[in-house]
Amino acid sequence: MTEAILLVGGKGTRLRPLTVHTPKPMVPAAGVPFLTHQLARARAAGVDHVVLATSYLAEVFEPYFGDGAALGLRLEYVTEADPLGTGGAIRNVADRLHSAPDDPVLIFNGDILTGLDIPALVDTHRDTGADVSLHLTRVPDPRAFGLVPTDGTGRVTAFLEKPQTPEEIVTDQINAGAYVFRRSVIDTIPAGRPVSVERETFPGLLADGAHLQGMVDSTYWLDLGTPQAFVRGSADLVLGRAPSPAVPGRCGERLVLPAAEVAPDAKLTGGTVIGAGAVVGDGARIAGSTVLDRAVVEPGAVVTDSMIGEGARIGARTVVEGVVIGDGAHVGADNELREGVRVWCGATLPPAAIRFSSDE
Ligand code: GTP
Repeated sequence: MTEAILLVGGKGTRLRPLTVHTPKPMVPAAGVPFLTHQLARARAAGVDHVVLATSYLAEVFEPYFGDGAALGLRLEYVTEADPLGTGGAIRNVADRLHSAPDDPVLIFNGDILTGLDIPALVDTHRDTGADVSLHLTRVPDPRAFGLVPTDGTGRVTAFLEKPQTPEEIVTDQINAGAYVFRRSVIDTIPAGRPVSVERETFPGLLADGAHLQGMVDSTYWLDLGTPQAFVRGSADLVLGRAPSPAVPGRCGERLVLPAAEVAPDAKLTGGTVIGAGAVVGDGARIAGSTVLDRAVVEPGAVVTDSMIGEGARIGARTVVEGVVIGDGAHVGADNELREGVRVWCGATLPPAAIRFSSDE
């Protein structure tokens, strides 16, 4: 059996306002807190003990997941009073691990949706005798990521954070946010101060001659750090494009949670989720979107690729596309909100207040 550390303490600023009341790993994806999918996948890969490294809104994790028995896991929680960064968070939970010095310990970022073959990453780690092994994925535009070039044997040759110039873009392989550490390597991270695993630990290990191994796995991979990506990931889980044993229901065009009220002629497509106690009115069309618990979508509204927060309300005939509506916000009737708009929690938009097009 293998142990894992899950990094779930980030502030999730890019996902605001969804993360104003809820830490990113607890924002629902396909009807359950996103973290549930990661825990279920870890369990399916043979992990039995998981330490959650929490910081921002740390108090909400344990009441929901408890001791982890419902998922077949033993869960522990360690909270940083001041955020220690990704590397500091890993070091900070080291005393909770039971692994021997040479054992492999899995580490996951708490905001990655992926079909990664976790046992294959552990096997690669064992077979190559690496100190740290990293899941790498290939992306068409690597500028927003950390590049990880490797040699012919998969051994990491450099870490290049967020390259900008064409000369810096030497590979399309990026750090995909899942690692295996030899346990004794975790103990070498400095304790008691913030450390970035990407910017400090990995380059430092490389400079010291450590063996860092990359494993390119090009299965489904999405960083759920932005609202657009989060909504896409949730829809892909519902559609069955992204694998998870924790989707509460059959995969298909829609997932309607218990006690939701959906008018018979409303149209729900593209992996849409309707949360518990939510209401969808006559003729509403919702595609590729997530409507959280107790939210209301009034008759004739058109919601596409958007996230509607808990208890929020979308007025009649209002069009929202590619936007995020915070918890409890009210968008009046006949508005038109497009790409990138973030309506803050509890805000109220009067009827017909905002349009992108000039037609009435
Ligand atoms: P942004 O603010 O939108 O960049 O999101 P973030 O705060 O989650 O940062 P980022 O996406 O870079 O974090 C990657 C992973 O590390 C996420 O799963 C975070 O929850 C986690 N993380 C980031 N910083 C910390 C920290 O200081 N402590 C802990 N425990 N986890 C962290």
